[in-house]
Amino acid sequence: MKNSEEHRGTLSMSKLILIGAGGHSKVVQDIVATNKELQLYAIVDEKYEQTVEKNGVIYANTSYIKQLDYESYDFCIAIGNNAIRKKVYEELDIPLSRYKSLIHPRTVISNSAKIGNGTVIMPGVVINADTEVQHHCIINTNAVVEHDNRISDYVHISPNATLSGVVTVGEGTHVGAGATIIQVKSIGKWCTVGAGAVVVRDFGDNQTVVGVPAKEMKK
Ligand SMILES: CC(C)(COP(=O)(O)OP(=O)(O)OC[C@H]1O[C@@H](n2cnc3c(N)ncnc32)[C@H](O)[C@@H]1OP(=O)(O)O)[C@@H](O)C(=O)NCCC(=O)NCCS
Repeated sequence: MKNSEEHRGTLSMSKLILIGAGGHSKVVQDIVATNKELQLYAIVDEKYEQTVEKNGVIYANTSYIKQLDYESYDFCIAIGNNAIRKKVYEELDIPLSRYKSLIHPRTVISNSAKIGNGTVIMPGVVINADTEVQHHCIINTNAVVEHDNRISDYVHISPNATLSGVVTVGEGTHVGAGATIIQVKSIGKWCTVGAGAVVVRDFGDNQTVVGVPAKEMKK
């Protein structure tokens, strides 16, 4: 079992640019601060009209990054909304390889787990053997993602959610705080699993499911 200290060992000294300056970005900034190999170079957001430097960090409009040589920087989209994270990634032409996964030191991640580019892993998370978390995901505080899970791009697993073994979660799906998905179940793309739900069967794409056991929410 490799912990995140060793995962973080794969990161070389890097000038990091965070895209997004909202609430989720604050938590990501805390992760960056735990890693001496990362230099927080800039935070860009549409809300910044002018470029200013404060405590060695540049704050600028998102258009600032279009003038940069992407190969000299690393990036992470620090935006909590899954659909907006996807839109921002698709609108910028930054190569996927320039997106860093950011992993808090107080996490336990199996040696055999794969973590995609631009994915953020918060404190207290456990990710077990042979699980794959793809790109631009958020695995939030104290979530447990058991063995052999397949977590697609832009998924958000919220605080204290538990995914049992061999669970599949489709692109863009949001698993709410404290939700549980029992083993060998599958949730489609762009679903929402309500806070506290217990998923005991498969669900297709674009559904919002709540309750114990989870059922599709009435429109
Ligand atoms: C499921 C969810 C998306 C529904 O949001 P919404 O569409 O705004 O729904 P509403 O708040 O209008 O509630 C509609 C109904 O569903 C019920 N409901 C909402 N969320 C529920 C949940 N998680 N479990 C059970 N019932 C729920 C409400 O009580 C309400 O019932 P009523 O019509 O009988 O009064 C939302 O409540 C939720 O759980 N989001 C996840 C939040 C989260 O975990 N965030 C973590 C961020 S890090």
